[in-house]
Amino acid sequence: MLSIILNDKAKYFEDYQHMGRHVSYADVRVLVTGGAGFIGSHLVDTLMKKGGKVAVLDNLSAGSKHNIDSWIRHPNFTFIKGDCLNRQKIRNALKNCELIFHLAANSEVRVGVTNTKIDFEQNIVATYNVLEEMRESKTAKTILFTSTSTVYGEAKSLPTPEDYGPLEPISLYGASKLACEALVSAYCHTFEMRGAVYRFANIVGSRSRHGVIWDFIHKLEKNPNRLEILGDGTQTKSYLTVDDCVDALLFGLEHTHEKVEIYNIGSEDQINVTDIAEIVTEEMDHKNVEFRYTGGVNGGRGWIGDVKKMFLDVSKMKKLGWKPKHNSAESVKIATKQILEELEFE
Ligand SMILES: NC(=O)c1ccc[n+]([C@@H]2O[C@H](COP(=O)([O-])OP(=O)(O)OC[C@H]3O[C@@H](n4cnc5c(N)ncnc54)[C@H](O)[C@@H]3O)[C@@H](O)[C@H]2O)c1
Repeated sequence: MLSIILNDKAKYFEDYQHMGRHVSYADVRVLVTGGAGFIGSHLVDTLMKKGGKVAVLDNLSAGSKHNIDSWIRHPNFTFIKGDCLNRQKIRNALKNCELIFHLAANSEVRVGVTNTKIDFEQNIVATYNVLEEMRESKTAKTILFTSTSTVYGEAKSLPTPEDYGPLEPISLYGASKLACEALVSAYCHTFEMRGAVYRFANIVGSRSRHGVIWDFIHKLEKNPNRLEILGDGTQTKSYLTVDDCVDALLFGLEHTHEKVEIYNIGSEDQINVTDIAEIVTEEMDHKNVEFRYTGGVNGGRGWIGDVKKMFLDVSKMKKLGWKPKHNSAESVKIATKQILEELEFE
């Protein structure tokens, strides 16, 4: 049931629900911004397999056409190379779409230390542009926004529930995503739109080209005897497979009845960086690897703005019926295998 949809089709969907039938994704046209990226391309796979009509808007700054290769010639699929900083491109991409998954963003937390503009432009301005185009659109009235655990900053309460506060992000990335969340909420309340905001833990899996697993694999390929680990190795966070993540995105959409709903998405435990290094070296079949810790900054963090302990309370999604299939260690192991397999064929 796509109960979140609030547009001309709303009545149609309600009728369908009263008849006790499921509305299929084939009935809605979906735009995925950032759909050529890591999470976006997996979401596209799922939507296409469900019979959806999907448009992707991506500037390919971090994503790749290769990730969506299998759909390029499909009649239900459209790829638009374009930037969310260009309103005309968004307008074209939004044509006849009812649902928008807005994933396009600078997804690299670290760069904010050296480039203070990137999160402001790629996250805040880009999201404002998407919302403005939705406001002017006759059909596009539902937005699913991918936010992050970093909006909580150094939360004093772990696992951290959605209503934790005050929210004090410690990175420009976290700050920009929090600003985007606020914009999504305000637009929904002001302009007859609906939205869901997903605060992700660390998402891992095939096609991922950033984050700790990718970093370790990359370094070990260059030198299988020694691994540089940023920080002191005790940074402890929660990891979730991209399949679980996409499952949660659609589950949230299908179970949201409020104007705006915020959901934490993560696994139900944590793992530290040294344990991740053990898993990656084992999966790569490297023995006696020397772990060299950089020691990090501000008490062992990998970089300025790195949250040292992250653990999201996912009980809100669990009460609705969603449940992660894997814990953090399993997720890391699965992702490492998938990335290694991919690299073999590159
Ligand atoms: N991967 C994670 O662990 C994680 C955690 C929390 C939140 N998120 C959020 O989820 C979303 C997807 O993340 P991901 O890991 O797939 O990252 P990604 O970098 O693989 O995907 C982002 C995509 O957006 C595109 N893009 C960037 N700026 C754009 C712009 N201005 N216009 C059009 N396209 C643009 C990139 O080319 C890329 O394909 C992001 O919003 C990210 O902030 C990811």
